[in-house]
Amino acid sequence: MKRIYLDNAATTQILPEVVKTMTDVLNAAYGNPSSTHTEGRQARSIIERARKSVAESIGASIGEIFFTSGGTESNNMAIKNAVRDLGVRRIITSKIEHHCVLHSVEQVHLTDKVNVAFVDNDHTGRIDLSHLEKVLSSNPELPTLVSIMHANNEIGTINPIAEIGEICKRTGAYFHSDTVQTVGHFPIDVSKLNVHFISGAAHKFHGPKGIGFVYINSDVHIKPFIDGGAQERNMRGGTENISGIAGLANALELSFKEMERHRQYIQGLKDYFWTKLKSNIPDIIYHGCPENSLYTVLNIGLPPNPKNEMLLMLLDIQGVSASGGSACSSGSEKPSHVIQALNSPLGTKAVRFSFSQFNTRSEIDRVIELLTNIYAPEPKVFTV
Ligand SMILES: Cc1ncc(COP(=O)(O)O)c(C=O)c1O
Repeated sequence: MKRIYLDNAATTQILPEVVKTMTDVLNAAYGNPSSTHTEGRQARSIIERARKSVAESIGASIGEIFFTSGGTESNNMAIKNAVRDLGVRRIITSKIEHHCVLHSVEQVHLTDKVNVAFVDNDHTGRIDLSHLEKVLSSNPELPTLVSIMHANNEIGTINPIAEIGEICKRTGAYFHSDTVQTVGHFPIDVSKLNVHFISGAAHKFHGPKGIGFVYINSDVHIKPFIDGGAQERNMRGGTENISGIAGLANALELSFKEMERHRQYIQGLKDYFWTKLKSNIPDIIYHGCPENSLYTVLNIGLPPNPKNEMLLMLLDIQGVSASGGSACSSGSEKPSHVIQALNSPLGTKAVRFSFSQFNTRSEIDRVIELLTNIYAPEPKVFTV
């Protein structure tokens, strides 16, 4: 049975071209990039070429890109360094950020006594901009970092980061946006945004795991995040992951090359899936904001059903990989903090399906059939 992988917001399948790039680098560029001999210089040039390519694709300058181990580290770095090095005393964030943001914020609150305020979101996961302005204006002298994600990884809702950036600019706040779900899927031009930090992770756009980057606007000066050697211009000590860096840059280049074609194709799959589910399953809910959503993510609320608790396992047994999050009032599954913040009706089963260019219409048909059989079975006709 060929499996149907619909968990691309968790991670994506690496592209064969990227594997080739990485293998070539692993085999050929084994020098330490900090060494001054030929092998070292060869490894260094691979890293710097990758940095240039990443910088160009998001409108940054070369000195603004720092390679990290992924989205989690990039977000930790932005938040913790802003507090330590920029004098930030207040963080304004939302309740539906990724845990790496929420837990970093919690940590600086506990250790540095940084003030934390949460900006409201509506029932679709959109940030309330007027509430953000109100919170910002309540204590204008407090050095502030606003940390609001570009797109939510569970429900796909996209926030207007250009507008948020403008609000931050007016009030003099620093702005960090977790862009892990949008880098490689949407054009992002930091030169046109008032943003100080954004983050990216290669495994979300068909690159390798364990490698990412943080963009740090050249106007902000922060100190090393990992103490050690002078790697990443003193910001992150440790010998670089050269093949990962080359793989990240290659995956990002490929994603930009085909972005519009993939966007249209994947959006078509998502729209088809939702239209069919909506007509087949009574009381199904769309979690998120259909008009402003990642084309790669569809999160649905399925009506109460005895099979809800086992749904993901049942799908897995049938060869379908999806992921959960639940608004149930009891039972073993822990409700997702994102779904909870949307006030989805109790008893609803939240399931996230997330798509890639490798999914097909017939795969989607198969999942529609499976879900319809559980949630809207054909009435049985008995003949005597
Ligand atoms: C929005 C968002 N931020 C951060 C991360 C963390 O990225 P990584 O797994 O590369 O550490 C993820 C990954 O799930 C994510 O979706």
